[in-house]
Amino acid sequence: MAARAIAVLTSGGDAPGMNAAVRAVARTALSQGLRVIGVHRGYNGLLNGDVFEMNLRSVSDIIHRGGTILYTARSEEYNTPAGVEKAAQTCRDLGVDGVVVIGGDGSFRGARDLTGQGIPCVGIPGTIDNDIACSDYTVGFDTAMNTAMEMVDRIRDTAQSHDRCSVVEVMGRRCGDIALETGIAVGATSILVPEIPYDLDRDVIERMRFTQSSGKKHFIVIVAEGIGGVADIAKYIEEKTGIETRATVLGHVQRGGSPTLRDRVVASAMGHHAVDLITKGIGNRVVAMQGGKIVDFDITEALNMKRHFDKDLYEVALNISI
Ligand code: F6P
Repeated sequence: MAARAIAVLTSGGDAPGMNAAVRAVARTALSQGLRVIGVHRGYNGLLNGDVFEMNLRSVSDIIHRGGTILYTARSEEYNTPAGVEKAAQTCRDLGVDGVVVIGGDGSFRGARDLTGQGIPCVGIPGTIDNDIACSDYTVGFDTAMNTAMEMVDRIRDTAQSHDRCSVVEVMGRRCGDIALETGIAVGATSILVPEIPYDLDRDVIERMRFTQSSGKKHFIVIVAEGIGGVADIAKYIEEKTGIETRATVLGHVQRGGSPTLRDRVVASAMGHHAVDLITKGIGNRVVAMQGGKIVDFDITEALNMKRHFDKDLYEVALNISI
């Protein structure tokens, strides 16, 4: 049966570019004659009936805005069989025959469960972390990295003026991609990520000493959130090297701001693809990017995939940050 109405929600941590994805979903569906229901605050909106009818103008002037106009949440109530059944009933009551879920792995598990209740769902990877195994890219990653790079460039100005070392924590609890690419872009002496075991003496102190021997006087060390402890790392560096060292946690500044061109374009293409699937009656899929192309995977298959950290790129960082 052809879809009559679709719903769209954003779930989990917000990411710049989510609005561009919502816009693409709404515009693609409306242009095909479908009704579009916007759901507020992730799955909570389906539990509380916090939904609204969208039209072409509901998504005007949002492509350049960070955050999500649909708001977002992590819903504990939804994560129970009763919660999923209640959300499915809301969809049936609204005549919704497909839901587009923009978020990360946790949101996709919710989409899989709702599909299990007969409501076909399609996920779009929206998270700054780039930690979705089936996709080379997640919406928000580019913006977050560019923000982190700009912030560290500023920190570098002051580190350079004072001949200091700055240890900067960037986001990414389980994934070091933001740290790796930002670290390369700012010329960090060391990059610590959860995927690669490290030793502070070997991977930070010795590298600093080596670069010092060729005249370097200021240093940037990038640490992924999953490693953490930047204050202690800074203290250790100062004790071992005698170089005055400061610690900075960039935090949520990385989650906000106007999305970059890349995030707007990828989000638009993924949103369009998601609606295409639902209009064909296909659910339980995650939209992904593979080799620059937009593809899709079965959600369960996608959730079981293992993410590969780019060790070659890490090697590049080690070889040139000297
Ligand atoms: O998943 C995105 C992310 O920003 C992570 O990098 C970070 O660990 C987490 O969300 C922070 O979550 P919250 O906004 O709930 O503190």
